[in-house]
Amino acid sequence: MIQWFPGHMAKAKREIRERLRLVDVVYELLDARIPAASRNPLLGDLLKNKPRLVLLMKADLADPSQSQLWKRAFEKEGAMALEVDAAGGFRREEIIRSTLEILKPKLEKARERGLRARALRAMVVGIPNVGKSTLINRLARRKATRVADRPGVTRAQQWIRISGELELLDTPGVLWPKFDDEATGMHLALTGAIRDEILESERLGEYLLDFLKKHYPERLAERYGVGLEWGNAEIVEKIARDRGFFQSDQAEKAYDALLTDFRKNRLGRITLDRFNGEEK
Ligand code: G4P
Repeated sequence: MIQWFPGHMAKAKREIRERLRLVDVVYELLDARIPAASRNPLLGDLLKNKPRLVLLMKADLADPSQSQLWKRAFEKEGAMALEVDAAGGFRREEIIRSTLEILKPKLEKARERGLRARALRAMVVGIPNVGKSTLINRLARRKATRVADRPGVTRAQQWIRISGELELLDTPGVLWPKFDDEATGMHLALTGAIRDEILESERLGEYLLDFLKKHYPERLAERYGVGLEWGNAEIVEKIARDRGFFQSDQAEKAYDALLTDFRKNRLGRITLDRFNGEEK
């Protein structure tokens, strides 16, 4: 997988480090459904003492009670965290207000020294598909543009003024997801952070089914009319039967249907990375 080439990682690191010098605060975008898997440990080293605001993106898709636990965990770590729904009920002012709050000590210090405050500057970093462009566009109050994604198109970095005292770098820092255990890879694939061609849909589906049985059994019962104590084979057979899959590949098709339901949010708000009180 291309994400793994050390050359890419090194280049990304170098580029982000250069741009970090230009900003006062970093928006660390995480997927609220996978706050652990979508975090790149590399960023911590790069940021050192740079203030950061953790933005739990796609919070509209995640389990609110888990998001609360994760938020508190980040706060314990000393980073303010906000839940963000950039697709629907976006709270732009909340992000701006929190940013200014984080930067208050810096502003006060500058004032004490009699320095005239210049605009405060922020940049967005995160793994692919976490919502970087969406957030930048919402903060900038502009329609989606995807110029930066076109290969070979280089353009000057620009600052977008998002409030009286705050500016945002218009190109995000892209971090690669890092995973060395199976569950993390599964969670990245399930949420679309990495392409799932690397995993058979049956394995991914089986993983999701086990996860749902453990953490959200009532959702399975509700959607597919299966019993809470049913085994995977029974559940898969019921899904296949209800949908009229009678061929030899019915298990694969049933798992595909389950994956599609999850990805289209038909199973309700789900957090895959469970906060267990020890992580973070
Ligand atoms: P990126 O720049 O980090 O790569 O991510 P981008 O903004 O392109 O967002 C990826 C997808 O996630 C987009 O969907 C976008 O609408 C969606 N998204 C971003 N933020 C949120 C959020 O807070 N809530 C929800 N529900 N969705 C969000 P897309 O264009 O339809 O792409 P795809 O879903 O087909 O990959």
